[in-house]
Amino acid sequence: MQPRPIITYPDPVLKARASEIRSIDALVVTLAEDMRETMYLAPGVGLAAPQVGVSSRLIVVDPTAGKEPGRLIVMLNPIIVESEGSLTDSEMCLSVPEVSVNVKRAQRILVRGMDLKGREVSVEAEGYLARIFQHEIDHLDGKVILDYASSLKRALYLKKKKKGLV
Ligand code: NI
Repeated sequence: MQPRPIITYPDPVLKARASEIRSIDALVVTLAEDMRETMYLAPGVGLAAPQVGVSSRLIVVDPTAGKEPGRLIVMLNPIIVESEGSLTDSEMCLSVPEVSVNVKRAQRILVRGMDLKGREVSVEAEGYLARIFQHEIDHLDGKVILDYASSLKRALYLKKKKKGLV
């Protein structure tokens, strides 16, 4: 396993809807391991496969960014099946460097998906963890925090990106 380069906005892979994972083969397992390494190295609290250039529905989440053992969640084909409440807070994204955006998210969610052994898993998440899941699942649907930002903020980012400043 090894960290992979993180793709930054506006690369098209970040705007596409990622494909369902239909079989768990060695490529998927390696991808998950590499994503974990990439997330911990950054460091970050979540990463979605499109952020390493793979348009597949796979996310890794760890609200402690690797500081506490046993907190890693790897989920394939995650779906939010229930949500309630709402809370606005600022978010950052490894694929949108140096930008923070206020995003309104559900406060509690129930996420269902699959683990690397193909077993169905569900996670009830609240607050910060719920926010991370929603952020990562957005990535699978081709959405990034800039989609919640003002057009001015988006334009400024793209300008800096064009100049190679971010
Ligand atoms: Ni992100």
